[in-house]
Amino acid sequence: MTPISTVLVVGSGAMGSQIAMVCALAGLDVRVQDISAESLERAHTSLRARMDRNVAKGRLSAEDRDAAFGRMAFTTDLAEAARDVDFVIEAAVEKLDVKRALFAELDRLCPTHAILTSNSSSFVPSRIADATGRPDRVCNMHFFNPALVMTCVEVVRGQDSSDETIHATVELTKRLGKLPIVLDKEINGFVANRILVAIRREAMFLADGGYATIEAIDTACRTALGHPMGPFELQDLTGLDIGYYTQQGRYDESGDPADRPAPSLERRVKAGALGRKTGRGWYVYDEVGAKVAVNASPDRES
Ligand code: 3HC
Repeated sequence: MTPISTVLVVGSGAMGSQIAMVCALAGLDVRVQDISAESLERAHTSLRARMDRNVAKGRLSAEDRDAAFGRMAFTTDLAEAARDVDFVIEAAVEKLDVKRALFAELDRLCPTHAILTSNSSSFVPSRIADATGRPDRVCNMHFFNPALVMTCVEVVRGQDSSDETIHATVELTKRLGKLPIVLDKEINGFVANRILVAIRREAMFLADGGYATIEAIDTACRTALGHPMGPFELQDLTGLDIGYYTQQGRYDESGDPADRPAPSLERRVKAGALGRKTGRGWYVYDEVGAKVAVNASPDRES
């Protein structure tokens, strides 16, 4: 297999931007592509602020920070970004038709040896791989939010993923300083999100049934179960839209009414209350990102 030295990250949202930074900090050349120049600009500014803080705290040298940014290129041009890459991590919107179209395009633009992976939190590789002419070189590489901090990466083997593809993805994960968890057989939601969804479903049942407030539920998860965040706080961090689309995808596949996104989640997503990134979700946040109150007006536009 060709050694991996150049990585393309597609999508510069919360996940894509931090995944790209992780790759650059590990010494890889990284191209970050997004259709929105504004999103690329936002990603660059936010990564810069995070790395500056790490330098100020003595966790990263200024030279290593500058070298990492020197290895990163931000662009809206997919054809230019895909040229000569060895490995792709797709972190675009969680919509299957978008991902399939993107993978078909990546298949056309990337060198034939390149491995194409998706950071999708729910769609299994075989739902994406057949949009390409290289299904053996497709698998999922699923990071967790915040990607700069969380160590686990789920590597999901699709029906057609080759042993070489899984091996190369596992080795790359280790090179990034992360811990690979391999799923030998694909299943919607993989391991961690399936467990998370079960917790979320119960949390929604308790909140929607009026048994306890979302604050009480979050507090119980933190202080009784030792979770670093409660399920509502965590959804505000990862994005209510991500949770909604993931759940909708699962419902579309299973047809099980228990998988349908909760109405209270849907109302917030429709009003644009997507969590920390829009300043309100289950809670309301101030300009510096501090939680100030429960979002008592779920239908209010963010
Ligand atoms: N991005 C990058 N770094 C962040 C961050 C962010 N959004 N938020 C916090 N950090 C860093 C801080 O800089 C800090 O680093 P330092 O200790 O080196 O200074 C470190 O994380 C700890 O931050 P804080 O002290 O501010 O706060 P906490 O101790 O509460 O940690 C947390 C924050 C790491 C986010 C912790 O609360 C946590 O682990 N929460 C649970 C996260 C989780 O469960 N993620 C998985 C979500 S599911 C998912 O991603 C699946 C996907 O498909 C949707």
